[in-house]
Amino acid sequence: MSDDALLANYNRAPITIVRGEGCYLFDDEGRRYLDFIAGIAVCALGHCHPWISQAIAEQSRTLVHASNLYHHEPAGTLAHELVTRSGLSRAFFCNSGTEANEAAIKLARKRAFRKGEPERTTILACTGSFHGRTYGSLAATANDHYKEGFGPMPEGFAFTPFNDFMALDKNFNSSVAAFIVEPVQGESGVHPASVEFLAMARHLCDKHGALLIFDEIQCGMGRLGPLFAFQRFGVTPDVVTMAKALANGLPIGAMLVGQDAIDALQPGDHGTTFGGSPVPCAAALAHLRVRDAIDLESYVAIREVQFMARLTDLALAFPNVIAGLRGMGLLCALALNEKYPVADVVTALREHGLLVGSAGGNSLRFAPPLILSEENIDEAYEALYEVFSRIQEGKPAAALAG
Ligand SMILES: Cc1ncc(COP(=O)(O)O)c(C=O)c1O
Repeated sequence: MSDDALLANYNRAPITIVRGEGCYLFDDEGRRYLDFIAGIAVCALGHCHPWISQAIAEQSRTLVHASNLYHHEPAGTLAHELVTRSGLSRAFFCNSGTEANEAAIKLARKRAFRKGEPERTTILACTGSFHGRTYGSLAATANDHYKEGFGPMPEGFAFTPFNDFMALDKNFNSSVAAFIVEPVQGESGVHPASVEFLAMARHLCDKHGALLIFDEIQCGMGRLGPLFAFQRFGVTPDVVTMAKALANGLPIGAMLVGQDAIDALQPGDHGTTFGGSPVPCAAALAHLRVRDAIDLESYVAIREVQFMARLTDLALAFPNVIAGLRGMGLLCALALNEKYPVADVVTALREHGLLVGSAGGNSLRFAPPLILSEENIDEAYEALYEVFSRIQEGKPAAALAG
């Protein structure tokens, strides 16, 4: 497959995926891969789940696009489902994670403006954060690597150390329109927030009149067990942003807004042509139906313990290779010793039939489909064990496989 016509902004692996089924992807040479990254935390129900495929097919025969000039049933029903299940009040739909965060940033500033506080514009974010690639979300992203060469950045963004609630207290003031945080930071290497940190964030937002935004784009939609990540922490934000797994593979983003901010955006303030299109909304509704039908929350709790136990086993068996284990729910990372570049290990694992991702801190990132079986965990463990054994035996990391 030639990539000559594609812009070179991705470092794609040299395989061509032609089919997906459950926890497996298949390439054009018939090779089967156990997918433990699921499109980067997208295919929570695995690939081509029959209920999702059926919902897409049916909706595509009925109504594909109507625009936001009119009402249509899938967006209205999905909004109802999400606000009911979250306890928040309203939903706004868009097409991606970064777009959901853009909406949240604009909502926070407009809310302050409407309340007669036009000076309240600061978006406070965390060190280690990743919120997306468009300018507002990028400005709220801590890692300078993503910003290099793209300046100037929009103004009005500040950072506070992740999980340091004393520093958060010091860095908060009445210029803060919103504090945005990932309950589990994904890109920087899978770092869960502490309950104390999120509770302090809630307290300070209330005290200073700012909005608390949880970016659940990677860690939400059941990845931590409950539908919303915040439900695992017991801290309720004013705004939740979602995308990735919401429609199990179709492009959709969402911003859920609590009562305090529902009037911030008025007609004409914000919009997007495709936001809340019928087909992705129908897929997202099917996703929620599957969750309910199989009690996915309880299922994930069981698989989390099984997978964590296996990762712990590996960390103990290969102390020279593995420097740390982090995670929550089915979002986990193994930090590798700096001697072994994570990209090489990802390649070796792929060549052993296991797809995983990488993340900051030289970490392997795991975000498997939530419907994985215990046998799938065993299969992943075997591939990891085999590759780590080779590394420990001193084989060069770049030529592990074969
Ligand atoms: C926490 C978080 N926020 C935002 C985004 C951006 O989402 P998208 O790639 O859909 O724009 C991502 C993507 O990885 C993410 O992990």
